[in-house]
Order: sequence, then C-alpha cells, then structure tokens
Amino acid sequence: MARPAAARQDASAAPACTLVLFGANGDLTRRLLVPALYNLAGQGRLHEDFRVLGVDRAAGGPEDLRRRLKAFLQSTVGHHVEGAEAAFDEARWEWLARRIDYLSGDFEDDATYQAVAQTLKGPAVFYLAAAPRFFGEIVERLSRAGLLRAGAGGFRRVVVEKPFGDDLSSARALSRRILKWADEAQVYRIDHFMGKETVRNILALRFANAVFEPIWNRHAIDHIQITAAETVGVEGRGGYYDRTGALRDMIPSHMFELLGLVAMEPPNSLDAEAVRAEKARAIAAIEVQSPAQALANSVRGQYHAGRIADAAVAAYRRSPDVAARSRTETYVALKLSLDTWRWAGVPFYLRTGKALSARDTEIAIQFKAAPGGLFSDAAGTQPPNRLVLQLQPHEGMDLCVDIKQPGPQDTLAPVKLAFRYAGAFALPAATGYEPLLYDAMTGDRTLFRTAGEVEAAWRAVDPFLKAWRTGGRVHAYPAGAAGPKAADALLARDGRAWHELGP
Ligand code: BG6
Repeated sequence: MARPAAARQDASAAPACTLVLFGANGDLTRRLLVPALYNLAGQGRLHEDFRVLGVDRAAGGPEDLRRRLKAFLQSTVGHHVEGAEAAFDEARWEWLARRIDYLSGDFEDDATYQAVAQTLKGPAVFYLAAAPRFFGEIVERLSRAGLLRAGAGGFRRVVVEKPFGDDLSSARALSRRILKWADEAQVYRIDHFMGKETVRNILALRFANAVFEPIWNRHAIDHIQITAAETVGVEGRGGYYDRTGALRDMIPSHMFELLGLVAMEPPNSLDAEAVRAEKARAIAAIEVQSPAQALANSVRGQYHAGRIADAAVAAYRRSPDVAARSRTETYVALKLSLDTWRWAGVPFYLRTGKALSARDTEIAIQFKAAPGGLFSDAAGTQPPNRLVLQLQPHEGMDLCVDIKQPGPQDTLAPVKLAFRYAGAFALPAATGYEPLLYDAMTGDRTLFRTAGEVEAAWRAVDPFLKAWRTGGRVHAYPAGAAGPKAADALLARDGRAWHELGP
C-alpha cells in the first residue's frame, strides 16, 4: 500500500552545489530558470554556498549577465501566477546575483570544459538549456573532461531539456550517446509541466480521494480530452518552431505527461521509481497506430491572420524565421487509445495549438450519461457529468453536475461545483521550474522522465510524423479561433464535441 510522501514534506534548503547553466544567455535561463531560482531563494531553499555558473558563447562577464537577468526579473516578478502578489525584492536579488558567475566558451570546444573544471569544486548540476543539437555533445565533453565524476559524498547530475530527440530513432540515438558517458542515475530528463502545482495535484486528487478511483475507468468514463491552448504565436522562436511544429513541440512531452498522470495505475508507494514506472507504463500503453489510422485520427492546422482580444495577429507564415510557404502545423488534434483493461474503449482526445481564442490547459473527464434517461429532454438527451481539471491559467477544477431547476417541472440545469486555487490558498510566485530545480539539487527524480518513457512517447508519435510526410492536409484556421473546423469533425464523427476553451 502507498506510503506517505515523507520526502516531499521537507522544505529545507537544497545541499550546497553549483548549477552550471549551458545556454546562460538564452531565453529559458532568463524567462524561467533564473526567476525560479529567485523564487527558491525567497523560500530559503537555496544553500548559502549555492552557485550558478553560466556558460555561453558570447563574450562578456558576469556583470552583463546579471544586468540582463535583473532587468527581466524586475519587469515580470509577480506575473507568473494568477492571484500572486509580489514586488521585486532587491535584497533577494543581490543575494542571488552575488552567486552568479559567467564563463564564455564554445560548447564544442574542450577548452570550455577545462575552464569549467578549473573553477568547479564539489557537487554540481549541469543544466542543458542549450539548443537540442548540443545535448549529446555537452554530455560527452563533460564526461571526457572528468566533470561527471563526483568526489566522495558529492554528486554530478545532468538535466536534459526537451525536446529529447525529434523522432523515435533520434531519441534512441541521443539516449545511447548520453548513457555512454553518464550513468542513468545522473540523468534528469525534464518536462516543466511536471513542476506545475496543478499537474502535481493530479496524483493527489486521484489517489488521496477515495471517491474517484471506483469511477476512474471505462465503466464510468466516456472519453477524456486533454487541451493545451495558447493565445501566443511563436514569439521570436520561428526558427525552432518551423522545424518542429506543434506535434513534436507539445505532444510527446507535456501532453503525454498529463495523459500519463491521468491514465496511470496507482503506484505502490510515492517513491520516485514507483511513480515514474507507473507513468511510463501508461504512456507505453498508448496504441501505436498504422499510418492509415494515424491519418484518420489526426488533424493539423496552421493559423492565418486573425484577431485575438481585439488585436490583429499576422499569419504564422509572416513570423520571423518562418518559411513563406511553411506547412508546419501550429495546431494538432489527435485521437488516441490505451491498450489497458482500465481504458479499453475510452478515447483520449488531445489538442494543442498557438494563436487560439483562449489560453487554457485543462483535462476534461467526460463521464457516461446516467442510464435510464429518466430526466431526458425532448431530444432524448441528458447532460453527462464532467470533471474539468483547470491546470492554467485559472488553476482549479470544476465538477459539472445536473440539478433540477427550481419550478414545477422536472427540468435539468447543468451547474458547476467550482474550486479555484486563487480563492483558497495564497499561491507562491512560481514558474513551474522551482520544484524541478530543487529536486535536481536534492536528487529526487520523481518528477523526471525515464529513458523508457521518452522512447514510448516517440513510439506513439512516430506514425503521425510518418503519415503526414506524404498524406493529409494542413487545415487553415484564423488566429483567435478555437482551431480548425476539421478538429471539430474529428470528435463529431464519434458523436462528441470539444469542451469549450476558457474558464
Ligand atoms: C514549451 C513549448 O515547452 O512549452 C512552447 O516549446 C510552449 O511552445 C510552452 O509555449 C508551454 O508552456 P507553458 O508553461 O507556458 O504552458
């Protein structure tokens, strides 16, 4: 039987170590990693002897890096979480800034690693916030320079960002290369969705509440919808995104993490390996479709010009660094099934896209309609119950039930039993990276992905990539829509409809 999560109730400072950030001048470092460190510093979760060593190609010293990081923080603190109130804390920033150093060097030059070796003492976490093509290269060179050998009582770990490969064979090749130079126990494959409070809550919701487990299966559930809708476009990442597309960018990572947490069996403890293994098993159970099935069960789209919240949005193809005749999808919807007893016959519909009408990451569990049709309306329908986990930005959950409308007739009205984090808790400012950085420093791998999980994810996604190479259309949708019409048809043919975007 499951044991209490003792390890996760400890909020003390992580052990002293150096966080070596490859890609110190990049977007990820500035927008998410350093803000997360700033938040951890505010919670007293960084050690007095914590250090950051930023590594990147550009010349310059630590002062330049600190200045840019500070400017970003000052303009964004307090904006990460709905309901979070915070002002920029100069003293906290100074505490962190004093610990930030910079080393200019090429990721493909051994001299860089020798320079790291000269300054680095004691335990370290190497964070690969660099372009994915450098992942294998950096790990190999770290190892050759002796940097992955921990001294007595110390540790040397590597955090590998997404995307981990861009199809099954490249993911396997990357895995082989990394594991040639590092032990599996040193490798932390990150997916930042796993650091989100609402995502981590999925396990608590499912396994701490006895009411859900008996109905969390094919007997009571009609289908499940997983949505990650964004209003933003490609935001200056045109070069990366045009090569990648919505499917590779979101599905085998973030969307499958959500699917894994919703679909997994209860782990027999909250130990890292037990949780990771069950989640990986659920992802490995996603049925691998034939090319013909993949074409029939997918819809891809690309946004053209439109309006979002009264602002004109240019077509995707007009974004910087995007090919003028690009066929890259900015939207994808899939119908998947899981080959397990629990989920036999229960479709999982996934959709994600850019430049949509609302920002909305949610999981909608649609239950079967009550039998008997006692309260059916004139059309013979009776609205089924639905549990919607609102992951962001309106963090919370809604249970949709039917009640009798007051009055002489037995007419039903659907109502929402709603919970919102913002009303119930003082939410700490968070980027989602806080628990992941902290866990990488403390050595807790619960939230990180196994090699097997990453491979299983690509195995399920590969048929779509292959099928799209030669077949299928890229459907246009106007920026500000809920997606292409063809995505509605994907569900309509099963007699279902997407849950409306928005809170
Ligand atoms: C990233 C993708 O991994 O996740 C982006 O590369 C996407 O394209 C982002 O916008 C979404 O994350 P979040 O936390 O903003 O929902």
